[in-house]
Amino acid sequence: MEHLIKNTKRQSETKIKSTRNLKDLEKVYIEIFGKDSLLTNLTKNIANLPKRKRPKHGQLINITKKEIESLFEKKRNSLKIQKPKAIIDITRPGQKQPIGHFHLVSQAIEEIVAIFSKLGFSLQSYPEVDWDWYAFESLNMPKNHPARDDWETFFVKTPPDPKYGQQVLTPHTSNGQVREMERVKTPASPRGGQGGPPIRMLNIARCYRRQIDVSHTPMFHQFEGLLIDKKVSISDLKGTFDYFTTRFFGPQRVTRLRPHHFRFTEPSFEVDVTCGVCLGRGCRICKSGWLELGGAGMVHPKVLKNGHIDPKEFMGFAFGWGIERTIAMKTDLPDIRLLYQNDIRFLEQF
Ligand code: DAH
Repeated sequence: MEHLIKNTKRQSETKIKSTRNLKDLEKVYIEIFGKDSLLTNLTKNIANLPKRKRPKHGQLINITKKEIESLFEKKRNSLKIQKPKAIIDITRPGQKQPIGHFHLVSQAIEEIVAIFSKLGFSLQSYPEVDWDWYAFESLNMPKNHPARDDWETFFVKTPPDPKYGQQVLTPHTSNGQVREMERVKTPASPRGGQGGPPIRMLNIARCYRRQIDVSHTPMFHQFEGLLIDKKVSISDLKGTFDYFTTRFFGPQRVTRLRPHHFRFTEPSFEVDVTCGVCLGRGCRICKSGWLELGGAGMVHPKVLKNGHIDPKEFMGFAFGWGIERTIAMKTDLPDIRLLYQNDIRFLEQF
């Protein structure tokens, strides 16, 4: 009996040692400890031994079982640590890293700049936090004038400047108009200058208004055009819009001017473009066949004077449109707030 137990132990040791993976090791475990294994049969046999021999053999079997168990444990751990050898398949295609792209608003800005630069407009940048003077007063909107209400302005709590007034978060890019006239310095400018018009400015900037709904976000972008020269007519303005809309929206879209009122242009217009779905026939989305792009007009003589430009010598047109709205009209976006929710599933589509 003792001899048999020792033999079983030796056999088990060789089997455990020679296994190469966890699956085989579990098979060997069942062979050694399973119902019909040698060890189990030896344990059952104890009952057939004379009574006095039983305790000694029982003990021997228990010790042997524990020893084998611990061999199993060691082997298991060592097999778990072993990493499978890496197989390098050089014919497999490489892993592609996901590549991002510009946000829809940045894409639109690039496109708008490219279109207007072909007409000779150059990009300028003016402050996002500006004085009341540039945002309103120089644009013929005196203090407390009710026309200002349309701009739902955020005011900045800083001491007002005696000439320029309070600071505001610019509610439109029109603050760049008088700043641009100052940049080109005319002989009438405060410290004089030889420059002056022509001006062909494109000013693209963030704007802020106290509004939020499907077609408004408190922060948005506008692009502002300003053209000043000796002889500028409404047909130049109309031609510029037609050029822009056919390039940006496609050749089937046309624009129209609708009379409107802004304090800084005379005459003033709202510019409409034909709906992309029905192309002007009228549908459920646009109703009339037209969608509103933004405001425009011939620069008011008072604004030219505020920019030290002589309205008897020069004239011009200006326009200011929302970029998010323009994107919505191009892509049939139902809610412009989607642009700023940063949901990758939405942004990825463009
Ligand atoms: N600044 C106006 C707005 O935010 C839009 C606008 C209208 C700009 C007429 C212009 C203009 O330059 O001439 O609603």
